[in-house]
Amino acid sequence: MKTLIKNVEIIDAAGQRSGKVLIEDGKIKKVYKEKGVVRAAYDEEIDGEGHGLMPGFIDMHCHLRDPGYEYKETMETGMKAALKGGFTSLVAMANTKPIIDNVDALQNNLDKAAELDLCQLIQVAALTKDFGDEELVDFEALRPFTNVFSNDGVSVMNQDTMIRGLAASAQNDFILAAHCDPETSLVQRDVELLEKTGGHLHVCHISKKETLDAIREAKERGLDISCEVTPHHLFASAMEYRVNPPFRTYPDRRALIEGIKDCVVDMCGTDHAPHSEEDKLKGAPGINNFEMAFAMYYTVFCQNGIGVEKLSEMLSDAPARRMGLKAGLIKEKYPADLVLVDLNWEGKINPKDFISKSRNNPFGGETLKGKVLMTMVKGNIKYDDNRSAL
Ligand code: DOR
Repeated sequence: MKTLIKNVEIIDAAGQRSGKVLIEDGKIKKVYKEKGVVRAAYDEEIDGEGHGLMPGFIDMHCHLRDPGYEYKETMETGMKAALKGGFTSLVAMANTKPIIDNVDALQNNLDKAAELDLCQLIQVAALTKDFGDEELVDFEALRPFTNVFSNDGVSVMNQDTMIRGLAASAQNDFILAAHCDPETSLVQRDVELLEKTGGHLHVCHISKKETLDAIREAKERGLDISCEVTPHHLFASAMEYRVNPPFRTYPDRRALIEGIKDCVVDMCGTDHAPHSEEDKLKGAPGINNFEMAFAMYYTVFCQNGIGVEKLSEMLSDAPARRMGLKAGLIKEKYPADLVLVDLNWEGKINPKDFISKSRNNPFGGETLKGKVLMTMVKGNIKYDDNRSAL
C-alpha cells in the first residue's frame, strides 16, 4: 500500500518546508519538496491543503489505568483519546492494579496493545516491587520488554533504593523516570546520586523554577538527565484544581516557558491522568489531557513566540531520542506515524466531547489554537476528524 500526502507544510524538529510525503508499507518512503515530481505510482492520495504535517507525538508520561481501574479508562479508550490528540506512541505508567512489576503483567499489557493495534505502547515497569520501599524489581528479566522504570505517583524516598535503582539504570541501560515530591529537594538529591552512581535519569512533570535550576546545573555538569513538562503547568498557575504536582505560581510558570526557550526542558508530556467524577470529588489528583494537550501547548508556544518546530522537537524528536526510538521526524525510512494539524483553528474544546472514559479537565472554557485533523500510525489512518475535508 502506497499513500501520498500532498500540499502540506511539513513540520518537524528539522524545520518547516512545503512538500509531500510518500508512504509505503508503513514507512516514509520519500519526502518531496513542494514542486518535486512524484514518479512513483501510489494507491491513495490525501490532500492536506493548508495544513501542517507533523511526526506523531510521543508521550513520555501517561496513565492508561489498565488493568484494574477500567472504570476510569481502558487501554482502548485511552489510546483512542491519545490518537485524537495526535499521540502515536505512549509511555504508560505502572500505577495500575496490580502494579506492573513483573514480566507477566508487562507482557499482558504489551499483548493487549498489539491486539488493539492503535498506538505503540512503551509499558513502564515499576522500579520496586509493589512500589515498596526497598525491594527492586527484576531488571534483567524486565529489561527486554521495556526501557523505562518508574514508581510514578510514589516518590522514591529511600536513598539507598534510589542509589541501587540508578546503578541498575547504568548497568542495564534503562531510563529511571522519577516522580519527585517534595519536588526540588528530591531532584537535588537525585542529581547528587546520579553524579556518584551514574545512570539515566528522567524527571517527570517538573513545575517549579528551583527544580529547573537544579536540572540546568546538572546538565551543565554533563549528567545524563532529562525532564518533561505538562500542558497544565505551562498553561496555568495558582489554580485550585487538584493535580500532582499542584499548580504553582505565575513566576514558576514563566520559568518553565523560559526553560523551554533555553533548552533545559526536553519534552512536552501529558501526564494524562483520567479519573471518574466520583474519584475526583473524593480528591483524586490528575487531569485528563490527551485530547487537549496539543492545543494547550500550541497556544502557549504562540503566545510566547516559540516556533511550532520547537514544539515538534519536544513532542516527538526528543522523547524518541531519549528512548532510542527511530521515530519522531518526517524523514525517509522513519515510521509513517504522522499527524495532520490545522494550526489556524481557534476555538474551545469541551471535555464533554472527550472520547476518553473520563472528563476531568478544568480548561473547557478556554480559547485554544491548533487542532488535530488526522492521525496515522505506520501508514494507517487511526483517527480522522473529518474525512471529507482531506
Ligand atoms: O496528578 C497526578 N495523577 N499525578 C500523579 O503523579 C499521578 C497521577 C495519577 O495516577 O492519577
